[in-house]
Amino acid sequence: MEKIIIFDTTLRDGEQAPGASLNHKEKLEVAWALENLGVDVIEAGFPISSKGDFAAVQAIARSIKLPVICGLARAIKKDIDEAVAATKPARRPRIHVFLATSKIHMQYKLKKAEDEIIRLAVESVSYAKKFCPDIEFSPEDASRTEKDFLFQVIEAVIKAGATTVNIPDTVGYTEPEEYGRLIQAIKNNVVNIDKAVISVHCHNDLGLAVANSLSAIKNGARQVECTINGIGERAGNASLEEIVMSIDTRQDIYSGLKTGIHKKNIYKASRLVSKLTGFVVAPNKAIVGGNAFRHESGIHQDGVLKERSTYEIIRGEDVGFVVEGMVLGKHSGRHAFNERLLKLGFHLNKYQVDKAFGRFKDLSDKKKDIFDDDLRAIVEDEIRLAKPVWKLDSFEINSGTKIKPKAQVILIKGGKNISGVSSGDGPVDACFKAIDKITGYKAKLEDFRLEAVTSGKDALGQVSLRLKVKDSIISGRGSSTDIIEAAVKAYIDAANKLENK
Ligand code: KIV
Ligand code: ZN
Repeated sequence: MEKIIIFDTTLRDGEQAPGASLNHKEKLEVAWALENLGVDVIEAGFPISSKGDFAAVQAIARSIKLPVICGLARAIKKDIDEAVAATKPARRPRIHVFLATSKIHMQYKLKKAEDEIIRLAVESVSYAKKFCPDIEFSPEDASRTEKDFLFQVIEAVIKAGATTVNIPDTVGYTEPEEYGRLIQAIKNNVVNIDKAVISVHCHNDLGLAVANSLSAIKNGARQVECTINGIGERAGNASLEEIVMSIDTRQDIYSGLKTGIHKKNIYKASRLVSKLTGFVVAPNKAIVGGNAFRHESGIHQDGVLKERSTYEIIRGEDVGFVVEGMVLGKHSGRHAFNERLLKLGFHLNKYQVDKAFGRFKDLSDKKKDIFDDDLRAIVEDEIRLAKPVWKLDSFEINSGTKIKPKAQVILIKGGKNISGVSSGDGPVDACFKAIDKITGYKAKLEDFRLEAVTSGKDALGQVSLRLKVKDSIISGRGSSTDIIEAAVKAYIDAANKLENK
């Protein structure tokens, strides 16, 4: 079997998605999940872009052992120096240099001619090679680059030491057949192409990122760049889970090809990235959407009960989607509770189990049946921050159709209760303003979503929100059977992330 190298760029291109910013600790958490998932390369960040990115790449390089750790750099010495320094602690570092090669980018963005682009590409790859044996080069906007020029650039950078050449469809413009032909053309026209791995990097502007990546694989690409849940710039990148499961499910087409991904960890990684970025996964999203393995129509349910393969091409369990099993309730004990958490993939320490069990008991007073999704929501709430700066003591609201909503919120910081009072456009707005008075942050609400975690009148509500505070975008989540409380908790979660930033 030939291996398709899975290059995960959730922490670089994925984190570039507007509003997806992760703090240091969260980046490490994602990196651990990627290592458990079995990705081959983690693109951990763009070290020159900020001190925070540099520190995160360095911390990941220190603590993640199995995958190659890659840092991105423009074709500029100081970028390469930073990427080299940040990835240095890794067992197997990689430097990824990029430089645009399409006419549009060269003329309007770089204002440089072709010969200068080749010179810069070669110089930067040769420079990076002095410090690191594993060099990837990306001719940015490759899919819109003049073919002959693209071949020349690729040949030159391989000669200078690039071991992987990536062919980005930077603006998500190509389509599967065309992109497949481009990969074939590179194989046929670049004389030294056998000295490098061909990689692909597709954006999803036309919804074709996965299809384009798969077409490239059929035509000889052996590394694919992708992100968990397909997050990334604009419409995102190719989704890791969709590529991996396509190769796995259609072995009749991708015969002789495999990935090293541990499929059972896919769902968990997806939920983690969704939770930390605040990007909710659409219920109908392939592989990891909440409905991906649920059958609603009677005909389908009947078919699946008789023979699963009538309507299922993948088993939810195979990607770690735990099919609803035992339902817990008021009388369930700690043992059953913990067993269920382990099944769902949560390995908590004793303190975390105690906290989560307390929440579970409170919830079971309000809600008869507690499903897996309820458990996930409360556990994710409880284990988010080991030592939150702000904790909710209580809140009170006064609202109605004929009065201006008013809220009093009491938060606990360092053992002390601090109260804030405010009016607002609605009860949630009044609570948020009261919290701002306490924390001193002037936050602008950029996005607010409320979802019922399960069905039924007593369902747990989960709020996901994004706040803008100065130049930072911070996400928060909270859940409760009371939707105002869920919103307040989500807001406090975001405030705690700001404290930890
Ligand atoms: O989309 C793109 O071209 C990129 C490069 C930096 C590889 O992200
Ligand atoms: Zn990209």
